[in-house]
Amino acid sequence: MSGATPREPAGHREVRVDLGERSYPVRIGSGVRHDLPGVVASTGARRAVVINARLRESVPDPGVPTRWIEVRDGEHAKTLATVERLCQQYAEAGLTRQDVVVSCGGGTTTDLVGLSAALYHRGVAVVHLPTSLLAQVDASVGGKTAVNLPAGKNLVGAYWQPAAVLCDTDFLRTLPVREVLNGYGEIARAHFIGSGDLRGRPVPEQIARCVELKARIVARDERDHGARHLLNYGHTLGHALERATDYRMRHGEAVAVGTVFAGRLAGLLGRIDHDRVVEHHEVVAGYGLGTRLPPAVEDDDLLALMSRDKKALGGFTFVLDGPDGAELVRGVAEPVLRDALRALRSGAA
Ligand SMILES: NC(=O)c1ccc[n+]([C@@H]2O[C@H](COP(=O)([O-])OP(=O)(O)OC[C@H]3O[C@@H](n4cnc5c(N)ncnc54)[C@H](O)[C@@H]3O)[C@@H](O)[C@H]2O)c1
Ligand SMILES: [Zn+2]
Repeated sequence: MSGATPREPAGHREVRVDLGERSYPVRIGSGVRHDLPGVVASTGARRAVVINARLRESVPDPGVPTRWIEVRDGEHAKTLATVERLCQQYAEAGLTRQDVVVSCGGGTTTDLVGLSAALYHRGVAVVHLPTSLLAQVDASVGGKTAVNLPAGKNLVGAYWQPAAVLCDTDFLRTLPVREVLNGYGEIARAHFIGSGDLRGRPVPEQIARCVELKARIVARDERDHGARHLLNYGHTLGHALERATDYRMRHGEAVAVGTVFAGRLAGLLGRIDHDRVVEHHEVVAGYGLGTRLPPAVEDDDLLALMSRDKKALGGFTFVLDGPDGAELVRGVAEPVLRDALRALRSGAA
């Protein structure tokens, strides 16, 4: 892959996701989208289909005959019906198993296109150009792809690693503030699972360190049998908050509050000291994210939703910080959860 770029411009970073013959580079920095023709050439593809949820000029020419497809992003478009439409267009474009699909958009687009690539001809190479901060730090890396059903989010999916990911930080210039915060929710939770303190660091470094962390975890546990649970730090309450607010809270905003909650809970369980509990609050607030529960959300609803969380195999299950770092903790008792929710409502660090 390194031969694909004639030069490595100053400031570009490359993280490798190490998965044997499915290893791939994640390049991060201003202008890395222009590596696309080199990356496409390195796959050996003779044709490409670009699925673009952003402006036409966002994607450079892949350097091979290309069909351009414009799509809408968002959860409503992340469906099996859209996957079918995309695959139909791949067939019309004459795409073979040796060719390549390129996505350009936020996490809904990388998930959707990733799944279509996993299914078309039982797997065709995909290159992601993630355009939101959340997609650059998280969704585009690691090979999980999925679409939604009316019954719930991400219920149909596959593991399909990309051939490369190009995180061009120029894309982030047009990102609305709320979407920046959405990404910072994931960066804040990374603080407690091994990224180190990224507050105040330049954005490309924040992205690279989060991608390094995810790459390390995915290399140990590609298919979510163990270590990959760590990435769900702050997500048990986070998912419950998204549902309880009917998705008015963005994922990252909910994970941010979930991260503060995880700190409270670990404190109440005697797993971490008071300073570390306060650190959870300070880190989340330090990224400009809210740390409080929305007042309209009831504890009973949150507890019911958390008990149904897909990680909850034996009672209430959380990824919690502790003397040996974060780990999966099963069977947390309900009264402790109520105390932690109460502490979160009071808001004091
Ligand atoms: N596969 C994984 O491992 C994984 C991990 C985390 C999240 N996800 C998925 O990612 C999705 C969330 O990602 P998201 O927050 O990027 O959602 P998204 O794709 O809906 O993008 C969020 C918003 O940002 C806008 N946007 C994107 N890039 C922009 C840009 N450069 N300038 C201006 N606006 C831009 C979009 O139009 C949209 O309104 C969810 O569906 C989630 O399930 C997947
Ligand atoms: Zn998340």
